[in-house]
Amino acid sequence: MASIGLTQIKWRNSVAEFPMTRPRWRDYNSRSRVELRVVASETQVEPDLSVTVNGLKMPNPFVIGSGPPGTNYTVMKRAFDEGWGGVIAKTVSLDAAKVINVTPRYARLRVGANGSAKGQIIGWENIELISDRPLETMLKEFKQLKDEYPDRILIASIMEEYDKAAWEELIDRVEQTGIDAIEINFSCPHGMPERKMGAAVGQDCALLEEVCGWINAKATVPVWAKMTPNITDIAQPARVALRTGCEGVSAINTIMSVMGINLNTLRPEPCVEGYSTPGGYSSKAVHPIALGKVMSIAQMMKSEFEGKDYTLSAIGGVETGGDAAEFILLGADTVQVCTAVMMHGYGLVKKLCSELKDFMRKHNFSSIEDFQGVSLQYFTTHMDLVRRQQEAIRQRKAIRQGLQSDKDWTGDGFVTETESMVSN
Ligand SMILES: Cc1cc2nc3c(=O)[nH]c(=O)nc-3n(C[C@H](O)[C@H](O)[C@H](O)COP(=O)(O)O)c2cc1C
Repeated sequence: MASIGLTQIKWRNSVAEFPMTRPRWRDYNSRSRVELRVVASETQVEPDLSVTVNGLKMPNPFVIGSGPPGTNYTVMKRAFDEGWGGVIAKTVSLDAAKVINVTPRYARLRVGANGSAKGQIIGWENIELISDRPLETMLKEFKQLKDEYPDRILIASIMEEYDKAAWEELIDRVEQTGIDAIEINFSCPHGMPERKMGAAVGQDCALLEEVCGWINAKATVPVWAKMTPNITDIAQPARVALRTGCEGVSAINTIMSVMGINLNTLRPEPCVEGYSTPGGYSSKAVHPIALGKVMSIAQMMKSEFEGKDYTLSAIGGVETGGDAAEFILLGADTVQVCTAVMMHGYGLVKKLCSELKDFMRKHNFSSIEDFQGVSLQYFTTHMDLVRRQQEAIRQRKAIRQGLQSDKDWTGDGFVTETESMVSN
């Protein structure tokens, strides 16, 4: 920990109102303004990226998001070897034979599209389904990974049909492998809505409440509910998930999208035998939308679940340590990354950690808790923005106009008051 206290050197005026210790959004408002002063020690200590979420210890907050980077033993092992804080495996269900993928199943948006093949990739659409590998195989690999990496956090992502017995069987079987937690995929936007799976549950609060009830009555490890952004108010299903016993929420899954139309063939992308279907959008372009959704969930958690050990795992368009810092500043406990790993490989975690540490050094934050949720307080209503701006304008005008009357001169502010009435 960097040592901080009022008797030490003030490091930077611009961050003078940041919390002194443990400024989690959960208890931020209870601290006095005097306490909320950050001053730095002269010798900086290496920032500590480790986090503990729902009792699970991770060396850093970076978690592989469910998807191709968590499809099998080899890639998950690689993620642990490269230093990811945790891994969420590709979503599994009881009967993989019902999962039939097509190819191509990805399409990318580049800067300068449509027509540019060279621009930077900013958006990614997939029409990929959940894992098409047999459940038995995936379970064997989870067990092998936990045997080889007992101290690392492996989270199973699961999805089932609207069937209590099926959910109970799936939970039982994944838990037997020794996984540390379960993420429920209530959010896959494409594929299998006819089976009442994924977003079909996450978009329907009544259904969600019932299914979460079954899940939480059965599960013995922490459960995170993964939310879909394809809904008007994401805080509503998040609230239902927490009220029905989930220990955390994850957001966001992909955004329903049509990547584009090929202007030569006039066919939509990704094009399978001349046809396409709407898919899920991810990568850099979704980051601002994900920030908005995470902010909305975090505000709900702060106002309705303050002090409880519920956690928030943020996802969407993370490619840099700065992207992750933004999520944490909004209240996230962990940050998941999926598409960026598909683009840059597992070594990305080293860059993410190093950039997050740079950010922390800049502000003299020694732990993740030091800045978790700090920016949430700066959101308000539009009406309040108008009030604040009108007040600021009034004050600026008052300064420009100087004293309204000779009775306003003071002894302490005499020189400033004189200055305020000088024109050059
Ligand atoms: C190709 C692909 C496959 C995905 N498969 C799953 C999945 O099986 N289960 C799931 O919960 N999310 C899945 N996702 C969603 C990601 O976990 C993540 O929520 C989303 O892509 C946004 O994060 P990102 O911008 O870091 O990719 C998938 C995403 C991609 C790109």
